[in-house]
Amino acid sequence: MANNKMTAMLQWVDERFPLTATWKAHLSEYYAPKNFNFWYFFGSLALLVLVIQIVTGIFLVMHYKPDASLNANGVPVAFASVEYIMRDVPWGWLIRYMHSTGASAFFVVVYLHMFRGLLYGSYRKPRELLWIFGMFIYLCLMAEAFFGYLLPWGQMSYWGAQVIVNLVSAIPVIGSDLGVWVRGDYVISDATLNRFFSFHVIAIPLVLLGLVFAHIIALHEVGSNNPDGIEIKKKKDPNTGIPLDGIPFHPYYTVKDIVGVVVFLMVFSVIVFFAPELGGYFLEYNNFIPADPLQTPPHIAPVWYFTPFYSILRANTINFFWVDAKLWGVIFMGLGVVILFFLPWLDRSPVKSIRYRGPIYKGALAIFVVAFLILGYLGMLAPTPGRTLVAQICTIIYFLFFFLMPWYTRIDKCKPVPDRVTK
Ligand code: HEM
Repeated sequence: MANNKMTAMLQWVDERFPLTATWKAHLSEYYAPKNFNFWYFFGSLALLVLVIQIVTGIFLVMHYKPDASLNANGVPVAFASVEYIMRDVPWGWLIRYMHSTGASAFFVVVYLHMFRGLLYGSYRKPRELLWIFGMFIYLCLMAEAFFGYLLPWGQMSYWGAQVIVNLVSAIPVIGSDLGVWVRGDYVISDATLNRFFSFHVIAIPLVLLGLVFAHIIALHEVGSNNPDGIEIKKKKDPNTGIPLDGIPFHPYYTVKDIVGVVVFLMVFSVIVFFAPELGGYFLEYNNFIPADPLQTPPHIAPVWYFTPFYSILRANTINFFWVDAKLWGVIFMGLGVVILFFLPWLDRSPVKSIRYRGPIYKGALAIFVVAFLILGYLGMLAPTPGRTLVAQICTIIYFLFFFLMPWYTRIDKCKPVPDRVTK
């Protein structure tokens, strides 16, 4: 009886909204390659972290105040409101630590998700647009993290924002006016805090959600790649039209993804409950000191997920072509991110997956990863002449990986790709 009522209700909805059709097209009759491995967990984990960030963010906004003026105790209101969340709001500490840990978790998951793309050539035809949506998502995530970091109005919030916004002043002619326009003031101030708050809680999340939606739609249009880099749509059952190497996303991958979710939540909980600052990597110690515009901290470093690009920025120490070293730093840092958009066209290999690539790409990718990690490490430290030299070498390796890619991917000795997916 109840069952009949449910069916009738579903039919009522289906006549007005494509609920069953959407369920089928995107889940129960969406055929994904049967050979996904653990690298394919990170897309669904990124969705999970997105939800965690939005839900915890909503609760934080209920108590947080974007106000740089000083309270009766001489502490900035914004800083004090975060302390209030941590000490007085019931479970506020949990919500805040989930959000701050979630920010780093987002980047861990997204970096691994992008690296999977490099391993299996997931950005290659026909997935170029899917990759480009992903890159815009990545830009949004960087902006979101940068704006969010100013909100607690600690020393690192303040001085980190000061350093980054000051970079626009390196732009010739309009630079300093542009800096004032971005800040809304001559220094980072209450006006800056208010606009960063607005971008962090509404503008960027709206764009981000739209992009994630477009990302999934593009993925479902072309279908997933897989660890073999074989297009499963090329071999279909002649009777059913279903890819021979495909399995329905639901229930097979919905259930498999639960494994990833459980493991992720275990690691996430351990960090949230036992080490939310993670030795200063997730929450910098200097940020527990209220912002003081009159006292520059001796060493200003961004959070770990920005440090590879921060290293590239600092590695440029020479003025050339009449352009200031600082401006070159900004240009190279920007180029370091922008170049990733062009990956689908830089890679000319006849195969997609690392499994069938030759030794040159494997070697190049390994060297690239090492250089990227070294850049990330150096970006956390104060510069010395020795460290700057290493950062310069790693910056060159970083760019050579991309600029030489059209050449070395073409001459590499690839292995034959099988017709059907293996394991
Ligand atoms: C909020 C961030 C993101 C979310 C929620 C997200 C979500 C997803 C999901 C659910 C999938 C399918 C499952 C999987 O293949 O793991 C996927 C696939 C993919 N994503 Fe993302 N993604 C995000 C960011 C990115 C970024 C930053 C890039 C690259 C710049 C990217 C590139 C790709 C590619 C190339 C695929 C297809 C992979 C394949 O089929 O082998 N994504 N994404």
